Amino acid sequence: MPTLEQFVARQRSRMLDELRALLSIPSISTDPSHDADCRRAAEWLGDQLEQIGCPTVEYLAGDSHPVIWAEGPRAPGRPTVLVYGHYDVQPPDPIDEWVTPPFEPTERNGDLFARGATDDKGQVFAIVKAFEAVLAGGPAPVNVRFLIEGQEETGSKILFDLLAREPERVRADVVLVSDLHYYAPGWPSVMTGLRGVCYVEITVRTAKTDLHSGLYGGVAPNAHETLVRILAGLKTAKGRIRIPGLYEAVDRPSSQERDGWNELPFKERAFMRDEVGAKALTGLERYHVLERLWALPTLDIHGIRGGFTGEGAKTVIPAQASAKVSLRLVPNQKLETVKRQLTRAVQALAPRYAQVDVELIHGADPVVVRTDAPPFALIDRAFREVERRGVTLTRSGGSIPIVPELAKEGAPVILTGVGLPDDRLHAPNEKINLAQVWKGVRVFGRFFQLMAGK
Ligand code: BES
Ligand code: MN
Ligand code: MN
Repeated sequence: MPTLEQFVARQRSRMLDELRALLSIPSISTDPSHDADCRRAAEWLGDQLEQIGCPTVEYLAGDSHPVIWAEGPRAPGRPTVLVYGHYDVQPPDPIDEWVTPPFEPTERNGDLFARGATDDKGQVFAIVKAFEAVLAGGPAPVNVRFLIEGQEETGSKILFDLLAREPERVRADVVLVSDLHYYAPGWPSVMTGLRGVCYVEITVRTAKTDLHSGLYGGVAPNAHETLVRILAGLKTAKGRIRIPGLYEAVDRPSSQERDGWNELPFKERAFMRDEVGAKALTGLERYHVLERLWALPTLDIHGIRGGFTGEGAKTVIPAQASAKVSLRLVPNQKLETVKRQLTRAVQALAPRYAQVDVELIHGADPVVVRTDAPPFALIDRAFREVERRGVTLTRSGGSIPIVPELAKEGAPVILTGVGLPDDRLHAPNEKINLAQVWKGVRVFGRFFQLMAGK
């Protein structure tokens, strides 16, 4: 019976081949031309779960982006651990900026580069292998269930619908989510909160068709101009979002929580220069950067479309323009309310001559989790044994839409991960550090054992 450490040492090269195979599948959920690839990624993982000894593997709800449901061998009388993760990935563009192609996983200096390496395939893989390692050492110590979806990056519609019909799926003693990252190398983390998101498209129409800017310039309304004026009206240069009522629901973190953040190793200049790669940080200066990242709402413009952007010049007054805009929401804010507030603010900024629409693309409520249930002490111990440092409590500025649903049957939700802050998720040259994957196999394997009281 191999120990977890022995398992990793002996099986590492086979596991690396497997991880490469999973990362080679372009399971981009935002792009319908990749629906079949999403299905393939699901089946690849389902086959794995069968091979490691899960007697039940099902593909639920949806041909193209099925939710994988798997149950490990029964461990009567033992606790149940529900593992959540996602096999879908973000599009790889801008493709030219990748040093090696996004779906040809390549190792350089101990890192494995590929789209989805850290978000979230590599991390799901670490838990699957952890369970394999545990099963290789004897009978299942706990009941393990896997709920792995293929639409996290697009708002998790299929899974939301599934859990509305079958809420008992999330009945468990603990939910383990490995889709996040360490605070810093050597500093494992458990997140106490995630931001939500309200992602919209704002469309402005000002005339029946585009117009010649010589014939009509000076009198005809310009949709692009109208749009950028509206957008500029939504936030001050100092970072205050100008949406009436938006900050009312914002719950400031407790002074205790903020004190904890103040003790974290954080160097604002290095963060600005090396991680952000910018000459200044923006936003509400009164608040610490970590509070701005983890506990304050944001408003970002992701892209603006309309008019002429091709080669050369075209003298046109655009009749229509649109922008993709999102807000990140923080605990106590509600997606529904924010959407209404944003729509009102946009309409109030719109001149009478313009037809302005705000359409929700996807959204998620923010979440805070308590970390006083017993499993938190166990994940802390598992990290301590492997990493020689227990977990630091932080938050994440990112979102995982389904997390509030995972908590609905009362199970404590552990938000953690083996990623590192510089993994470049969603960006070119995403990677996962392979040593982190192998540590993850041991940490999560140890967590399964500890949950069984071993
Ligand atoms: N794994 C991320 C969440 C995350 C973000 C973790 C930042 C660690 C740091 C997740 O896959 C993600 O990207 N979520 C989206 C959700 C959105 C598309 C609804 C996000 O935060 O943008
Ligand atoms: Mn993710
Ligand atoms: Mn993501």
